[in-house]
Amino acid sequence: MISIDNAELFKRHPHIQSQIHAKKLDKLIGYRIAKIEVKLLQKYKAYYKEAGETNRKTYFEGTQTWFGLHPQVLQTPYNDIYEALSSLKDQQISRVVDIGSAYGRVGLITKNIFPKASFIGFEIVKKRADEANRVFGKYNLINCEVVNKNILSDDFILPEADVYFIYDFSDREDIKKAIMLICKRMKSKKFFLFARGDSVESILKKKINFILSKTRYLPDSLIRIYEFRSDSFNC
Ligand SMILES: C[S@@+](CC[C@H](N)C(=O)[O-])C[C@H]1O[C@@H](n2cnc3c(N)ncnc32)[C@H](O)[C@@H]1O
Repeated sequence: MISIDNAELFKRHPHIQSQIHAKKLDKLIGYRIAKIEVKLLQKYKAYYKEAGETNRKTYFEGTQTWFGLHPQVLQTPYNDIYEALSSLKDQQISRVVDIGSAYGRVGLITKNIFPKASFIGFEIVKKRADEANRVFGKYNLINCEVVNKNILSDDFILPEADVYFIYDFSDREDIKKAIMLICKRMKSKKFFLFARGDSVESILKKKINFILSKTRYLPDSLIRIYEFRSDSFNC
């Protein structure tokens, strides 16, 4: 079994493409992602199929779960997450939250860089959440979990955190709602927002007063980092 606290594990290598690196690392870690995604696709209609197409399968109800998307596109490569979280090494990070966390990659890297911090991912697909927690258990990662929860449900409460991660997890309307949750509930605390994806970026630009937020650029990463003070919001 590999050691999750090995600093070399998640680093970018100049000659290995990040998705290929991620695929190899998934295997080394012991994830069963491909098998699970195939099973999900046997049960549900793929996201790219037209609603009217004759197929007895139905879409997963209530949100976009990306069944049929390649697993290495569904999740952010380890290299990118590692670089984004490493850039906060000098900060006091005690909790990281991933909104739509799939198999919990962000959790593994949180524990690698900030062993004392806790990680909470929220994931609507139970089989993905279960697999994340199986892997966290395998490596004895304490305070690291993926909760099987719809973040758009009325009873969802976004926990306080020092870092929120959001990658285009669903359609535009759902992402807007998630960003409003961050806006409304976290007005009093400084935090970092890791954003990935065109929808997330364009919604953020409309919703948030960018003059008051600080942006950190990482040259090779898919993730953009925003730093918010309590007065950054203009929701
Ligand atoms: C694009 S993946 C991103 C995974 C992870 N954040 C990463 O970057 O590696 C988005 C995940 O969000 C989940 N999701 C979609 N809608 C959701 C909702 N309403 N509540 C919780 N999870 C949701 C999907 O099932 C999918 O696994």
